[in-house]
Parts: sequence; structure tokens; C-alpha cells
Amino acid sequence: MTSVLRPGGDLALEYPLVFDEEGPGAHFALSEGDEVLSVCATLERELIYPGGRTLVGFIGSVATPPDARGQGHASRLLAEVEGALKERGCEHALLWADEPGFYQRRGYSLDGTETDFLVSKIPTALIDSELNVRPLHASDRGQVHELYTWHGARIERSARETARLLGCPEMRVLVATRGQEVEAYVCFGRGADLAGVVHEWGGSPAGVLACLAALLERADSLFVMAPGEPGPMGELLDECGAIRAAGRLGMTKPLGAAGSLPHGAFVWGLDSI
Ligand SMILES: CC(C)(COP(=O)(O)OP(=O)(O)OC[C@H]1O[C@@H](n2cnc3c(N)ncnc32)[C@H](O)[C@@H]1OP(=O)(O)O)[C@@H](O)C(=O)NCCC(=O)NCCS
Repeated sequence: MTSVLRPGGDLALEYPLVFDEEGPGAHFALSEGDEVLSVCATLERELIYPGGRTLVGFIGSVATPPDARGQGHASRLLAEVEGALKERGCEHALLWADEPGFYQRRGYSLDGTETDFLVSKIPTALIDSELNVRPLHASDRGQVHELYTWHGARIERSARETARLLGCPEMRVLVATRGQEVEAYVCFGRGADLAGVVHEWGGSPAGVLACLAALLERADSLFVMAPGEPGPMGELLDECGAIRAAGRLGMTKPLGAAGSLPHGAFVWGLDSI
């Protein structure tokens, strides 16, 4: 996977839940004798949304070595893996595609809702002066996990998994505190896929805004990913004059007779993988 997708890098550092030996991820290879023809990884996760929860299988890191491409290997592997996910109770397969056409021709469609903001200034008048912003301490991880669970729609993950994700290299995590209490947090950057992006945040909108203002001290603008209905956080960013754009989050395929994913279920993603 790394030789095709991150030559010279290390995918496992970017996606610890998928690649940790003790983690919940699984890896599949189609091979012939000693020759590996195509590979991919999966992560089973529960999507929690207002009104329910559903088990889904994320598929990622699909890769065929250049000299073995165009012979149907990835298609065969994908079909096998979808079957395995279905047997394990997943109703949908979810993924992010570098080549959406490849997956569209195999039954996937664009799905999930995301709102993206480009923020270039935060007026001082909007910043709560009683908040203090500082880098995450290891002892904050439990409180950050608690704040993550405030999201009505999210991907289920344990406090231990949150701690593991917060430790990813090349990720800056800031927290906003009021007294001793961590009131909000913001995660900026992670690996090649999320470089330069605020991809996860939680807690009070005022605290998130204070963290974004601190990040803006070192950047001209920030790309902030938010769920489909960004709520009060979105309103605050609108007040800051941020540019707002609605987008599709990824691609999904029903496995079996499930129909499409409930509206509002697929609104966060890469942050929990
Ligand atoms: C995308 C990829 C996994 C396809 O693997 P594969 O084993 O060649 O796939 P298949 O033989 O089953 O199907 C070939 C399909 O890939 C497309 N394709 C893309 N790049 C190709 C290439 N360099 N050579 C041959 N086919 C290629 C073909 O158009 C074909 O699509 P179609 O059948 O819908 O027309 C492979 O090209 C790859 O590893 N690419 C780089 C990594 C990547 O982009 N992974 C996806 C991350 S989500």
C-alpha cells in the first residue's frame, strides 16, 4: 500500500486505527503465489446519528502495483471485501476516492454532506477574552473525547481510539480552556490527506473560534471542514466573513437491500479513521 500510495512515506503513521496491529482495522490482499496483485484496508465503524446508529465498512488504500493494473484485480478484491463486510453485518461500504469514476462504475455514488469554510480573519470582538488557548496536554485527552461525543452525528470511537488519533504526527491540536476546564478543541493537519486542514473540532463554538484565531496567527487563511449542518459554529464563521461551500463527503454503496444511508448519518469521516 505504502509503495503505491505514499512512496517514501508511511501510511500507518497517518491512519493508526487502520494499521495498528491491535487496532480494529483489517487488511486484504489478492495474490497469486507470492505475487501480491491488489490490496486494500477496511475499518468497521458505527455511524451514530440523531435517531439511530448503523454499522458501516470503510474501505481505503486500494492499490494495485503499476505493472498489474487493468486486469480486474482491484475489482475482484473490492467485490470480495464488500461480501466480507456484508457478512459481518455492515449495511454500507464507504470510501474516499482519488478516482471516483472507478467506484461509480462499481455501484458507489457520491454521498455524505460536508460544509467547508475558508476563514481568513476572526474579529477580536468575537473572541471570548476569558478563554485561554494552548496546545493539547496528554492529560486533556479524556476531556477532548468527552467533547467529541457532543456531536449528535459522529463515528463511534472509544476514548482510547480518540487518544491514539490525537497522537498522530504532523497534527496540531489546540484546546480552549476556561479556568481548569477544557471547553473546546481543534485538530489541524494530519498526513498527506489532511495537510493544512482543520478536520475535527468539538466543544463550545466560542472555544473553537478562539482556537481558530490562534491558528490564524501562523497562517493567512484556514480551511475548516464541518458537518453538513454546521449549526451555531457555522453561524459564527459566517459572522467572521468566512467563505462557505457545500460538498459531498465521500462515496457509499449499499451492501444488500439496505437502501441509502439515512440523511444526516454520514457527516464526519476521515477524522475518525
Ligand atoms: C485504481 C486502481 C486500484 C485500479 O486497480 P486495477 O487492479 O487496475 O483495477 P481493475 O483492473 O479492476 O480496473 C481497472 C480500472 O482502473 C482504471 N485505471 C486507472 N488507472 C489505471 C492504470 N494506470 N492502468 C489500468 N487501469 C487503470 C481503468 O480505467 C479501469 O476502470 P474501468 O474498468 O472502470 O474502466 C489502481 O489503478 C491503483 O492502484 N491506482 C493508484 C492508487 C489509487 O488511486 N487507489 C485508489 C485510492 S482510493
